[in-house]
Amino acid sequence: MRATIVGGGVIGVSWAGLMAAHGIDVVINDPAPGIAETVRAGLDELMPSLVELGLPTDGLLDRISFEADLATAVTGTDVVQENGPERLELKHQIWSTVEANAPAHALFLTSTSGTPATDIATVLKSPDRLVVGHPFNPPHLIPLVEVVPGERTSEAAVQGAVEFYRSLGKKPIVLAKEVPGFVANRLQAAIFRECVHLVAEGVVTEQQLDEVVTSSLGQRWAISGPFLSFHLGGGPGGLPHFLEHLGPGLEKRWGQLGTPHLDEQTNTLLSEQAADFGGSIAELAKARDSAQIALMKALGTAPSETAR
Ligand SMILES: NC(=O)c1ccc[n+]([C@@H]2O[C@H](COP(=O)([O-])OP(=O)(O)OC[C@H]3O[C@@H](n4cnc5c(N)ncnc54)[C@H](O)[C@@H]3O)[C@@H](O)[C@H]2O)c1
Repeated sequence: MRATIVGGGVIGVSWAGLMAAHGIDVVINDPAPGIAETVRAGLDELMPSLVELGLPTDGLLDRISFEADLATAVTGTDVVQENGPERLELKHQIWSTVEANAPAHALFLTSTSGTPATDIATVLKSPDRLVVGHPFNPPHLIPLVEVVPGERTSEAAVQGAVEFYRSLGKKPIVLAKEVPGFVANRLQAAIFRECVHLVAEGVVTEQQLDEVVTSSLGQRWAISGPFLSFHLGGGPGGLPHFLEHLGPGLEKRWGQLGTPHLDEQTNTLLSEQAADFGGSIAELAKARDSAQIALMKALGTAPSETAR
């Protein structure tokens, strides 16, 4: 199997590593000077995680090649995963060239976190082929891929995307409607708004807030999401009882949530406190990735296990 990664930045490198670790021949197309060196450095960084996940990394680098000409890069490909910059005119250019040169059976997937497939597909002769496959960063670790069909995406394209991501050990979730930010980033934005409010108001520090989350909601939500948690929180009466009993208080609290602004004063405060996490970014990221993998293994959601 052959995949073309268009855009070898943060997301492209991660996809490339995961796909190559699943035995796929990966061709990377990216016009940036020195892209091969940048990608190899990125792969060096993520390789320990792939090893920890139990994915085969022997010969992985040999399965990744570079092709500066997009038309050539998609010739004979089976899957195109586009990870170019978040600019609509650029995505239009990329996808027009892809459509004109890729085989008829190739899957057309875009990692976009902000542009609906409907808007990207306006330049395509066959808009039914394009579907959003939005990963949660980094794609080689976090299981979720939001599969978001555009208004004209075919069911076959959606199914092809779902099967492909499952074969990589990912957890694809198909959204029924295009909505700005999709689901995971909307949730993240909603929660982070209140996080900023609580820190800006001096209720807790960033470190305390993170501890509140990692020792409560984070642990709970890794196992049961917000709805199942409240269904169980309602006791034998389940969610209906929970809504009747605690719903009014919850709704009242919605009216008490903060609406902070990321102005200069707030950004300075947040940046100053971030310096207190201890350790360099690389050290903190390594510790985080290692713990993330241990958690996924415990839950059986690591890509190496779910792909079996
Ligand atoms: N970073 C994230 O957390 C994240 C998460 C999910 C989805 N996404 C989405 O993934 C996509 C890529 O984001 P990123 O964070 O990897 O960006 P990035 O800036 O790290 O990488 C973009 C890459 O695209 C390359 N590029 C520029 N023009 C190109 C062209 N014409 N053809 C091919 N490549 C080109 C750049 O050289 C760069 O290497 C975006 O659509 C973004 O919304 C990002």
